Parts: sequence; C-alpha cells; structure tokens
Amino acid sequence: MSEQIIQPNKKKVLSCIQPSGMLTLGNYLGALKNWVAMQDEFDCTFAVADLHAITVRQEPAALRQQIYSTYALLLALGIDPEKNTVFIQSHVPFHTQLSWLLSCNTQFGEMARMTQFKDKSQKHPENVNVGLFSYPVLMAADILLYKPDFVPVGADQKQHLEIARDIATRFNNIYGDVFTIPEPYIPKTGARVMSLQDPAKKMSKSDENANAWVAILDSKDDIIRKFKRAVTDSEAAVRFREEQPGISNLITIYSAVTGKTTEEIEKEFEGKGYGDFKLAVGETVADTLAPIKQRYDEIIKDKKALEQLYTEGAMKAEYVAKKTYFKAMKKVGFVL
Ligand code: TRP
Repeated sequence: MSEQIIQPNKKKVLSCIQPSGMLTLGNYLGALKNWVAMQDEFDCTFAVADLHAITVRQEPAALRQQIYSTYALLLALGIDPEKNTVFIQSHVPFHTQLSWLLSCNTQFGEMARMTQFKDKSQKHPENVNVGLFSYPVLMAADILLYKPDFVPVGADQKQHLEIARDIATRFNNIYGDVFTIPEPYIPKTGARVMSLQDPAKKMSKSDENANAWVAILDSKDDIIRKFKRAVTDSEAAVRFREEQPGISNLITIYSAVTGKTTEEIEKEFEGKGYGDFKLAVGETVADTLAPIKQRYDEIIKDKKALEQLYTEGAMKAEYVAKKTYFKAMKKVGFVL
C-alpha cells in the first residue's frame, strides 16, 4: 500500500465528477480547471462518481469506457495522483454503506423537494428510480466520509451540498460529533460557459445540437468550426453586454482561457468584427486543449498504469473513509 500523505496544515477539499466520455469546455472552465489549481493550496480528494451515473440507464460497455476515460482525463488535466487522492467512487464500498446510515436520517420530504430530482424525473418519466430519488444522500456520503473543509460545486449542485450539511448537522446532534460540516467553495475564477448555439442555456453534452458544445477531447478542426458557427448578436462589436449574450459568452470563454480581463479583450478587438474574434477564441481554446488531449491519448493507451493509479487512489481513500464510517456505526449503536 502506498504511504498515506499527511498534510496537517492544509485545508481539505473534496469533489467528484460523474463519468462521461464527453466532458465539455464548460466542465473544464467551470470546474476542472479549478481542481487543478487547488491542488497546491489544499489537500484534495477527487473521485469519479460512477455510482451516481446509473441513476440514469447506462449501456454497460459504454459506462465502463466512460469511467476509464474520465479518470484518465483527470490525470491528463494535470491532477497529480501522488499529491492528491484520485479514485473511483465504487471502489470504496463505504460510500454506499454510509449512504444507508444517512438515508435513515434523511426525510422523504427533504429529498422530494430537490430541484434536480424534479427535473430529472420529468425528463425520464419511464425511469424514476429510487436511486434517482436518494442520489443526494449518496452524494452526502461521498462528502462526509472525507471530512472536507470545502466542496467546490457549481450552481446546480448547491442544493445538494446544502442538504449534505443539514444531514451532517442532524446526525452530529443526535449521535455526537462525527462529521465536519463542509463549506461550499466559490473559486476565484470560474466561468459559467453557455451553449454556443443558444446562450440562454448552459453548455451541455446532452444538447441535441452538437455545435452547441465543445468536448475537451474534440479535435482542433472541430473546435474551430464550432466557434465559427457560434451564434453572436446584432451589435457586431466585441463588447460584453448583458443584452448581447452570444458575444458575451465568447468573451467569458476567451477571458477564462487567456486570463485577460473583459476590458483588455474589448481593447484587443476594437474595430474588429465577430469573425476575427470567433476565430481567435476557437484557436486559443484549441491550443489550450491540444496538450490535454495529447496527454489523454497517452494515458488511456496504458490500461495497466491506469489500473495501478486508480487502485492506489482507492486504497488511500478507503483508509480515510473507513475511519469515518466505523465511527458513525459505533455512535449509532452497532456492534463492531
Ligand atoms: N452530483 C455531482 C454532479 O453531478 C457529482 C458528485 C457526486 C459530487 N458526489 C459528489 C460533487 C460529491 C461534489 C461532491 O455534478
């Protein structure tokens, strides 16, 4: 077993991402780029939330491929599996086990009001399964096992983090101190990337229009083509305005990728048209993602090395998770 790295001075961070072979530029600029940035300052635990993925029906071979792919992508982005704990959720059985203890301390009504449950059950009326309903309890277990100080989450997961805090507080009040109450982490930078075809919607890989989103692993040509086709507005000037959501979204993306401010960008493209700007954004995004894709292609080829890394990651995670789990079990009154 690899040695446990103890970093007593660092605050702890935990986050998870659902496996998808098609993580988008939105996932990158909104979340993953921050994960990479956080690894120096914090003691980080990152997981591929594969158990959460089956709340929606998955084709087994595709799911397996997506889990590998997502793990490999985390490494390709520059997340260091030595410095951090990087693992696959289902490899640590304490997530599902703690989830049961927490379920018995969570009210039906609390879950029923979760907006994501309401949305997803409307989208998949043929499969409103109990797992979809109790999804936030499993997510609470993911978090609470590792006692993180902070959990970086996007707007769509804030309600789930809130409920994890409620469950933890209640559990601590009933049984005594077991869990740390985590705070949401709002990154200093972090872009909300909208669809390239309809800037009123968030960029999403489930969009039927393939031109609406850019995958982290898209080819350079595809990326440039998608940016060339991005919808812009009527003003024909590169200026950030709320009433001009198309161009503003492109400015947000360009700013997140280059680190330039809106003002600098507006200046840089003063007197230039949308065409020039779209090409610049496309090329810059493609150049940023190219080395990630290159590293990914290398990493995914070597299944043995990958296996070794996720196995070590799971061992490191389990070491921490086990302690919390058994402490909770003992407090509830189980015979250990
Ligand atoms: N539900 C999250 C999402 O879909 C993924 C997730 C699972 C997660 N467990 C978590 C995020 C724990 C933060 C912490 O985005």
